[in-house]
Amino acid sequence: MQTKASVLQRTALIRHLPKAELHVHLEGTLEPEMIFLLAGRNRIPLKWKTPDELRNACRFRDLSGFLEIYFKGCEVMTTEEDFHDVTKAYLERAAVENVRHAEVFLGPQSFLARGVRLQEILEGILSAVDEMKDRISCYYLPSVLRTGTEAEAVELVKRLAPWYDRIAGFGMGGAEKGNPPSRFAGYYSACRERGFHTTVHAGEEGPASYVKEALEILHTDRIDHGNAADGDACLLKKLAETQVPLTLCPVSNLRLNVVKEMKRHPLKKFLDAGLCVTVNSDDPAYFQAYLNENWRICADTFHLNRGELLQLAKNSFKASFLPETEKRRRIAEVESFGKEEKDGSSLS
Ligand code: ADE
Ligand code: ZN
Repeated sequence: MQTKASVLQRTALIRHLPKAELHVHLEGTLEPEMIFLLAGRNRIPLKWKTPDELRNACRFRDLSGFLEIYFKGCEVMTTEEDFHDVTKAYLERAAVENVRHAEVFLGPQSFLARGVRLQEILEGILSAVDEMKDRISCYYLPSVLRTGTEAEAVELVKRLAPWYDRIAGFGMGGAEKGNPPSRFAGYYSACRERGFHTTVHAGEEGPASYVKEALEILHTDRIDHGNAADGDACLLKKLAETQVPLTLCPVSNLRLNVVKEMKRHPLKKFLDAGLCVTVNSDDPAYFQAYLNENWRICADTFHLNRGELLQLAKNSFKASFLPETEKRRRIAEVESFGKEEKDGSSLS
């Protein structure tokens, strides 16, 4: 039974749990107020009159409808200071939510196309990561656009060479339908040859075959979303066996109509089937839910118990690109937090 007291205890547990966020786009952390601040200082006109007007425009039909506004928002980020401030604002907010490690995407291509220099992007992000390192560790994952060509993606990997020692891995996002993962096999080989971890958005709006291609053709270390595996028993078996993690984004899926209601989200089914799933925010400013709110909504919808919440926290470190010793240390931290917390809790 879910009593009010148990729901409150669960919310407190979520707030205090040490956890990692593995699927968040820095461009998607641009709060309306930040968009107006950056637009003002860079003298960029906006089509919205106030931050609230922009907030009210954040009702999306689907992924493409969302990406239109998302790329409009990106236009206000032009200087190193902008990339620094956006990164720092996200990390500050995540640290308050007890996110101890974050792996953050940003796709340089849309900025480069508008004349922003790669150096400004990288130095802006990395200086904020350095400033916050005592409160939260953060890996930057450049992401390429699947609507572009594979040659453009490989070109970006090469241009990032001066920063290879500060990059943990590479990803890919953008409008999914009609842009299958298999088209980017060469890009993923180029990343792996250089020793990088890899991840790919697949099975968010695209079919189960895209998740299969990610596993069998791209061989990525993890898959972003992967919802479409729901309903494909063979694929679920393979995901459980290989433990290739799925970085799920439940509120994003609800806001973009990937699921019609939260009850239909496959999170609980995937957890019960033994998949290594994690809960993430994707684009928290646009979907009005940062990490803990994603966790809380899932916990309330699926009546997740203590054990399941601790499992999600452990999965978040297990699925990260941290070195193995560091993963073990952080998982042990979740376990000891769980033991200490249990004494003062009546949650099952
Ligand atoms: N870029 C930012 N958010 C995204 C999403 N949900 N899917 C694909 N690309 C994205
Ligand atoms: Zn995403």
